[in-house]
Amino acid sequence: MRLDVRPSGPLRGRIRVPGDKSISHRALIFNALARGSARITGLLDALDVRATRRCLEQLGVQVLDLPDGSVQIEGRAGALQEPLGVLDCGNSGTSMRLLCGALAGQDFHAVLTGDQHLVRRPMARVTGPLSQFGATFEGRERGRYPPLSVRGAELNNVSYESPVASAQVKTSLLLAALQGTGRLVFREPHASRDHSERMLRAMGVRIDEQDGALVLDGPQTPQARDVLVPGDISSAAFFLVAASITPGSDLVVENVGLNPTRAGILDALRAMGADIQLIEPREASGEPVADLRVRHARLSGTRVDGALVPRLIDEVPVLALAAACAQGPTRITDAAELRVKESDRISATVALLAGLGVTCEELPDGLVVHPAPLQPGRVDALGDHRIAMAGAVAGCLVPVQVDDADNVATSFPGFMSLLQEARA
Ligand code: S3P
Repeated sequence: MRLDVRPSGPLRGRIRVPGDKSISHRALIFNALARGSARITGLLDALDVRATRRCLEQLGVQVLDLPDGSVQIEGRAGALQEPLGVLDCGNSGTSMRLLCGALAGQDFHAVLTGDQHLVRRPMARVTGPLSQFGATFEGRERGRYPPLSVRGAELNNVSYESPVASAQVKTSLLLAALQGTGRLVFREPHASRDHSERMLRAMGVRIDEQDGALVLDGPQTPQARDVLVPGDISSAAFFLVAASITPGSDLVVENVGLNPTRAGILDALRAMGADIQLIEPREASGEPVADLRVRHARLSGTRVDGALVPRLIDEVPVLALAAACAQGPTRITDAAELRVKESDRISATVALLAGLGVTCEELPDGLVVHPAPLQPGRVDALGDHRIAMAGAVAGCLVPVQVDDADNVATSFPGFMSLLQEARA
């Protein structure tokens, strides 16, 4: 699929972005392992979350669509069913890594695979520590890449210090630890998003913090819990940047999840001079939420590094686009993780901006953006949804053609029509 976007004036009015992808995956997987049934409202209806749902259904979990658009899920109190077929996670790293943890404690065999992008993404970061727990994994290149097979086991104690800040690794291990009889002690270099800790605690699971480590003693069975999924800040980010760079814009994005471990894009954009106001801050299912009013502003360059990086890791491509439209360079470092996302997002972002006439220095762990007036251009999304949407946002200022953009539907199926609506 190809996207053609041309400038058509400012972004105005009020819009809503779809449900948070991270929270949607967790609401399904955690309730599937829980005791009782739960209703999930605002679940993201995108290919990645559908993949999680389909895999859970193959594992014997019943998920029902209710007439009001919410879904009801019946928990299996920790006991999933051996699947008859291969579990296809599509493009979704979160589905695969979280399911590895959920399956590590199940007394059966399962095989997980994914699309041409996912089968090239590293899985040893979860299969390594889950093997220390006692589960058995096999995969391509000595277990590093999918397809993966897993044989669950009775899990032991594990103390694990992750070399990367990763909520997927953390969540995978928490899910395994729930089913074990030992203790998990988990550390990471910077805090990753904490949706799992919030939701599991709300489901009655005890997770302690000791000297900066998370500690979970198994076995524990979560109690099913209704979830109200807020709008996804990673999806909202495309509109925050689009309105910030497009003269005359004044847009409200309603109902956006603002978990502090996720909302680094607000800090970065505000440090650049963006005009973003929080309206009616509130809470939904233990997550902070607000409406965001964003107006066009003159942006200046900034630095993004250290603990801020995991808080905006998915927003770097669109942040780099904002940086291209700012005064003065922006330096983003400590972000080597971007090389193993849905694409190598460092080189994909550098290529995206190059296609629009903007020069970047590519660093091993980030990039330096040297702003320049955007030029009309053609960019290759490389099958990566967030590169495609960042390219489309550039189309608010200059005509842009984005190739290989099908994967927008993995996280944000209505993105193009919402962008047109905001610009109508
Ligand atoms: C996610 C965590 C992040 C993020 C991904 C979703 C999650 O990945 O990039 O889009 O839902 O836990 P890592 O855990 O690999 O940093």
